[in-house]
Amino acid sequence: MSTMWQDDGEKQRVRDASDIVRIIGEVVALKPKGREYAGLCPFHDDHNPSMAVVPHKQIFHCFVCGTGGDVFTFVRKFHKMEFREALEYLAQRAGIELKPRRAEPAPGEGGISRSQLHEANSIAAEFFKAIYRHPEHGRLAREIVERRGISPAMVDRFGIGAAPDRFDGLLLTIRNKQLDPRAFAEAGLLRTKLESGHLYDTFRNRLMFPIADMIGRTIAFGGRKMREEDEPKYLNSPESRVFNKSATLFGLAQASRAIQVARTAIITEGYTDTIACHQAGLENVVATLGTALTREHAIVLRRLCDRVVLLFDGDDAGQRAADRAAEIFFAEPLDVAVATLDKVTDAKDPDELLKRPDGLEILRKALQGGVDVLRYRFARVARGIAGGGIAVRSRALEEEVTRLADLGLSDVEPVRRRMIIRELARLADVGEESIARAIPVARGNRTPPRVRTEVEPPSSAARLATGPLSPEEALLGCALCEPSLLTTLDEQSRGLLAPERMGAEDLADLASAVLRLLGGDDAPTSRDLLPLLSTMEAQSAATILQARTERETGGNAERLHSHWKECLRSAAIRAERAGNAPVVTDDTADLVARIARAAERSQRLGPDMKVFPKAGPQGR
Ligand code: UTP
Ligand code: MN
Repeated sequence: MSTMWQDDGEKQRVRDASDIVRIIGEVVALKPKGREYAGLCPFHDDHNPSMAVVPHKQIFHCFVCGTGGDVFTFVRKFHKMEFREALEYLAQRAGIELKPRRAEPAPGEGGISRSQLHEANSIAAEFFKAIYRHPEHGRLAREIVERRGISPAMVDRFGIGAAPDRFDGLLLTIRNKQLDPRAFAEAGLLRTKLESGHLYDTFRNRLMFPIADMIGRTIAFGGRKMREEDEPKYLNSPESRVFNKSATLFGLAQASRAIQVARTAIITEGYTDTIACHQAGLENVVATLGTALTREHAIVLRRLCDRVVLLFDGDDAGQRAADRAAEIFFAEPLDVAVATLDKVTDAKDPDELLKRPDGLEILRKALQGGVDVLRYRFARVARGIAGGGIAVRSRALEEEVTRLADLGLSDVEPVRRRMIIRELARLADVGEESIARAIPVARGNRTPPRVRTEVEPPSSAARLATGPLSPEEALLGCALCEPSLLTTLDEQSRGLLAPERMGAEDLADLASAVLRLLGGDDAPTSRDLLPLLSTMEAQSAATILQARTERETGGNAERLHSHWKECLRSAAIRAERAGNAPVVTDDTADLVARIARAAERSQRLGPDMKVFPKAGPQGR
């Protein structure tokens, strides 16, 4: 019993000596908010800071997912530590000496615990460092390090070591220390010979770069070959319960403070590039582990900073990465830019560049020249629609909005979302509202609509996108795809497109604009239509209707023409059935409303615009 009391006493002492803001602040950027701090909660997919850290109570709490507790709770959950590990970690951070550890609990069911995996990696790291310093066994490694210009300070900072040129280097150490080899095998440091079942070292004759988690625990290794003929060039530890390759960034423990200060993370392609950057004083630099960037990386980074620069050696890789990154990072609260080296230097990578006298300056230039991946993406959309009319533009736009909606556009925080919408609107040369309105439409029924706090003006958008269309509406769609079709209409059939025949105001506006195209001297073009659409609703209706028609006719002119004729016939039949009677009743209230609308429209359009209707049922 007494040991339990002592444990509690130690726990209390360690808790009192720990600063929860500092401990959490190392892995999640915290902003002061009154007497508390706020940050992105790491225990759910948080996009707005919902975790509060309360210094005077030394607790944290997420008001979205409900996770909360003291510094022990956080450390155990975040770093997946058992109690004893958390106690040791926090004690060491606070400079408290713990009573010697009691006998190691027997591994249950022959299983290896996570802490044993950490321990195996840590023992291996010490072993590789010892070999590196060894007068004989470490000589080649030291020569290579020196030749590459890696400073002793960086050897220390990154814990660089060496694996000896034999099959039983680490293995002998494990045996001598009477450690459990199974933990080393599971960590990928030892392998089993298939025939004999004998264990042997995975890493042999390699320069060893420890790969650490955010708080510097070694979780894996990258081993670079030292003999030309060896393969592969870099050998990495396999994934394990403590090593998730696609969530890990090389150098993050060393870089995280600088990343928080600069609010920017720079991601290079190689370990040696990262080390060279740190050596040059650029410390907010990490590397992926020879893989592309993943959303898991993004989640780690978004808690620390708000900007990421992907630094690539060559433009090819850069462009491919820009495409990928735009998608992966799209819904993350991170600005992402892609910078490429070959625009500013002939050095093949940052490592090589930084060995030159003006290397750092040139590297900074490359970083400053980074292109925002969203702008990059939009610029490509813009190139695709350059010179196109409304048909091309709205189709490209609809595709883009649909894609972005799938990527989570409606979850993007409001400021960023507005920026994206503004960019798209500028691209398509339409009002921002028509884009904004297209978003829930593009999302379709994929996800339930988000709760809206504002009341939206009624519009036909949703029905136009997927619902049944009247022949008149279908005619508008055809005319939007190919405005010259309008010239085939005689005076009477023009009446079929009269605004009064349209059920909703946005469509009436659209019809009015379409017919006004015919008022000009030149052949009607879609270019001329956009400025005539005076309301956002009408612009939105035009975009949607046009895209739908385009889609349904497959962009095929013949199909479009036959669709046009068919709809013309149906609309004429409908009009005839209605006895060709005036479509609009001469109800006085209605007339007043229409006059008011026309007046308003002419006001919006300015004095020199012709006021519709010119030729409609009303005019005849
Ligand atoms: P590089 O071949 O550019 O390596 O691969 P580097 O960093 O410049 O290394 P040095 O300068 O030749 O020593 C970039 C990264 O790709 C991964 C490693 O993470 C490396 O840092 N890689 C490369 C592998 O995982 N395996 C390989 O065989 C090669
Ligand atoms: Mn390289």
